[in-house]
Amino acid sequence: MESKAAGLTGPLSSRGDGIHSYVIRAGRMSDVQKDAMARLYPVYGFAWDPDRTLGPSDIVGREAPFVVEVGFGMGQATADIAEALPETAFLGFEVHAPGVGKLLAEIEARGIRNLRVSRHDAVDAIATVIAPGSVDGFHVFFPDPWPKKRHHKRRIMNAAFVRLMASRLKPGGYIYYATDWEEYAEATLETLLSEPALENAHERWAVRKSWRPVTKFERRAIEDGRPIRELEFRRRA
Ligand SMILES: C[S@@+](CC[C@H](N)C(=O)[O-])C[C@H]1O[C@@H](n2cnc3c(N)ncnc32)[C@H](O)[C@@H]1O
Repeated sequence: MESKAAGLTGPLSSRGDGIHSYVIRAGRMSDVQKDAMARLYPVYGFAWDPDRTLGPSDIVGREAPFVVEVGFGMGQATADIAEALPETAFLGFEVHAPGVGKLLAEIEARGIRNLRVSRHDAVDAIATVIAPGSVDGFHVFFPDPWPKKRHHKRRIMNAAFVRLMASRLKPGGYIYYATDWEEYAEATLETLLSEPALENAHERWAVRKSWRPVTKFERRAIEDGRPIRELEFRRRA
């Protein structure tokens, strides 16, 4: 699939079976987001290059713990976490242009130096430009729940993607997932438990990490009575 921003970021390719974990929404971009995309993507974004792997030295210019976020949305948690953990190099993937523009503007405004972004399909990008055994952690926060049964195949936390992330983790590296959708949480727990390379770091649900902020979206879910479920699995040594 080609997007309007393809010239800038490369094609938003899918995982090969034509099924995407997202729909590209037409969502209007604010002037600030448009300006950030044009001016700051060349600085804090990565132009798509399938022949080049990305790691911490591309982000902070040295070896460092390396965390990859899948689908950062508007990037509120992403920016907060990068600020809270300045010694870690963060790479965030998001296909939604307004969100990318918003986070780019935030990176500049807050002077964040340990976070870069890519407007590329995370599934394709992790398979293509993230080296096996190179990642300390994956963050997957509140991925689209695709609640209708016929859409479950679009859920990003499927067995193939979990296997792919596990293959990119260092031994002891983690996958951290949060959702307000109980049935998706249960299904993801089963999917993660079925991956032999991973083990649950907790008995069942994880407890929120001090560095993970409660976002506006999450606060609303709690107010609406939907419990937040979190999972932390680690790659076996
Ligand atoms: C429900 S939103 C959650 C955003 C954010 N993590 C949060 O907690 O607010 C899920 C986001 O994942 C993005 N997304 C879904 N599949 C993706 C993929 N394969 N690659 C990159 N982004 C993806 C969507 O565009 C959407 O912005």
